[in-house]
Amino acid sequence: MKSKKHLMALLQIILQSVEEGIHVVDENGSTVFYNKAMADLEGMQVEDVLGKGLLEVFPSLNEDTSTHLRVLKTGRPIVDESQSYLNNIGKEITTVNTTIPLIYLNEKIGAVEIAKNITKIKHLSEEILRLQQQLTASSPNQKNIIKRYTFQDLHGKSPEFLMAVKMAKRAAASNSSVLIYGETGTGKELFAQSIHYQSNRSDKPFIAQNCAALPESLLEGILFGTTKGSFTGAIDRPGIFEQANGGTILLDEINSMGLLLQSKLLRVLQEGYIRRIGGLKDVPIDVRIIATTNEDPLEAVNRGSLRKDLYYRLNVVNINIPSLKERRDDILLLSERFINTFNQQLNKEVWMLAASIHKHFLAYSWPGNVRELRNVIEGAMNLIQEEHILKEEHFPPHIIKAMAAEEKGFGAIGQMDLSEYGSLKELLEAIEADLIKSAMKKHSNNITHAAKELKISRQALQHKLKNQ
Ligand SMILES: Nc1ncnc2c1ncn2[C@@H]1O[C@H](COP(=O)(O)OP(=O)(O)OP(=O)(O)O)[C@@H](O)[C@H]1O
Ligand SMILES: [Mg+2]
Repeated sequence: MKSKKHLMALLQIILQSVEEGIHVVDENGSTVFYNKAMADLEGMQVEDVLGKGLLEVFPSLNEDTSTHLRVLKTGRPIVDESQSYLNNIGKEITTVNTTIPLIYLNEKIGAVEIAKNITKIKHLSEEILRLQQQLTASSPNQKNIIKRYTFQDLHGKSPEFLMAVKMAKRAAASNSSVLIYGETGTGKELFAQSIHYQSNRSDKPFIAQNCAALPESLLEGILFGTTKGSFTGAIDRPGIFEQANGGTILLDEINSMGLLLQSKLLRVLQEGYIRRIGGLKDVPIDVRIIATTNEDPLEAVNRGSLRKDLYYRLNVVNINIPSLKERRDDILLLSERFINTFNQQLNKEVWMLAASIHKHFLAYSWPGNVRELRNVIEGAMNLIQEEHILKEEHFPPHIIKAMAAEEKGFGAIGQMDLSEYGSLKELLEAIEADLIKSAMKKHSNNITHAAKELKISRQALQHKLKNQ
């Protein structure tokens, strides 16, 4: 065992190299550790903070406003609190902070704060809100701007798929909340838009919001709006509930929303009014909610990622979109539709898929579902020149390989022949696609679990699946 001093040095190096800001104070509020990331965030120099009392270094704070001191006093952690402030060099910074009391042998010996810089995410989300506001103001029905899907765009003939369409059409005739469950790329957004544009809300806004992309505190502001002064830098701005009034909100990946916000959402749905963050006025709202999950909602309830009461409130109409591998009848039909689409878009004259491709398409598991099929066809249609039939040579070798390997019942990596790959990049992409596919399969397409196994973030995995 190495000496204690050696371990301490190691710990310092590790804590210095993480992306998050870390600030540890002792029980008297004096800084004992302050990393470079925190110094950059706060516009300070490490040596100006280290060894000094908090209130001495940050005179604008007091015992009630300093999260460190609050936690030291109460002994209770503060989790994921969003803060916006002007730092020491006048830069506006937004962070999500978690502050935890350090307890040793039942005694408070200090507090640590871990801060994540979300300034860029905040600006981006504000920009989205601003654009959305302009969009709804200039064209309340958004007809000319956002791609509108209707039931005519939904193709498929398998009984399970037709059942989903039947439920969706029924939903379009009502005002009830809808919960759509389907793997990535199965067409959840398409279904949601089709319901909205066939409902009597079709001339009012349709606004989609992903619940997985943002920290809870930002998402709350986006949904319900903010008032000036509710936190530093906050301005008076309606959230999407106000912007979409009379229309429909699509809440994507509702099971990724924090549980506290889920309960606030439930209250809004039950009571029919919202209050902006920091606001005093209750604003009546009339929006229809369509929520989606890409894991079985009941499993999400059992795992504790979806509140049971919210689940019952949303699940008035329940639509289950089967994955593509569960409806193989639709693979060739959809291929044909996409060939038609891209004939028009790319000005080509392709008649069909070669018969030799059919068996690959039918055996393949399509982890990215209809989106993946569409992308594969689009890629091939870009390659084909004067011919009329899509053949193996028009598809990237790793796709054909992966399909052939699945037909034989084992992963593509074992089947790879280096000489057949144009570049190392292509080979690595094929290996990556294969690893992602098996992780998704192993975890029944639960992105969170698969991402954990692959040791990448959930967002990164989702991005990769979309681009496959
Ligand atoms: N039944 C269908 N008919 C025609 N096109 C479809 C169908 N289902 C999906 N698509 C196409 O697949 C793509 C993905 O659809 P969509 O964005 O609705 O998926 P999603 O379920 O919302 O995926 P994610 O979970 O990744 O957000 C779109 O380009 C859409 O045009
Ligand atoms: Mg979607």
